[in-house]
Amino acid sequence: MTIATTLPHVNAALNLLAFLLLLTGFALVRSGRKGAHKVAMASAVAVSAVFLVSYLIYHFTSPIVMFKGGGILRMAYYGVMVSHVLLATLVTPMVIMTALRAIRGETERHRALARWTLPLWLYVSFTGVLVYYMLYLMYPGAG
Ligand code: HEM
Repeated sequence: MTIATTLPHVNAALNLLAFLLLLTGFALVRSGRKGAHKVAMASAVAVSAVFLVSYLIYHFTSPIVMFKGGGILRMAYYGVMVSHVLLATLVTPMVIMTALRAIRGETERHRALARWTLPLWLYVSFTGVLVYYMLYLMYPGAG
């Protein structure tokens, strides 16, 4: 067991957990449970921060894994992967701003930004799992 063989699975699990926490946090605030919304969203931020550290460790220590499929699947993979990376870069400062506005009690401004942050973040965490699936589970042994 090495970093290169272990961390991709850990990272995918963290992405999945963040995705589920975001859905939970959204459902909670829609049902008026603001305290529980805060806990779920703070947990999503913490899980994503751990993911970011783990992701950087992985990419600084491990070789790049190429997608093994061809044809339309290969195009789909690169489409998903590139959009995932670009939107992950965009959403990171948005998450920080969204959380800061909530902590400062700027509820209306928090809501306004959160309407963009939430769908983007959901897309990024979901496609993180999808990229993992396409890279490691569709073609076992590829990693
Ligand atoms: C950064 C992660 C967060 C995201 C993505 C997020 C997302 C959202 C969304 C989408 C709404 C609007 C729901 C609607 O339109 O009905 C909302 C509302 C709200 N959030 Fe967050 N939230 C986050 C963190 C937090 C934190 C850390 C707190 C508390 C400190 C918080 C407190 C609230 C409150 C008080 C509301 C307004 C509820 C209301 O009066 O309508 N949120 N959030």
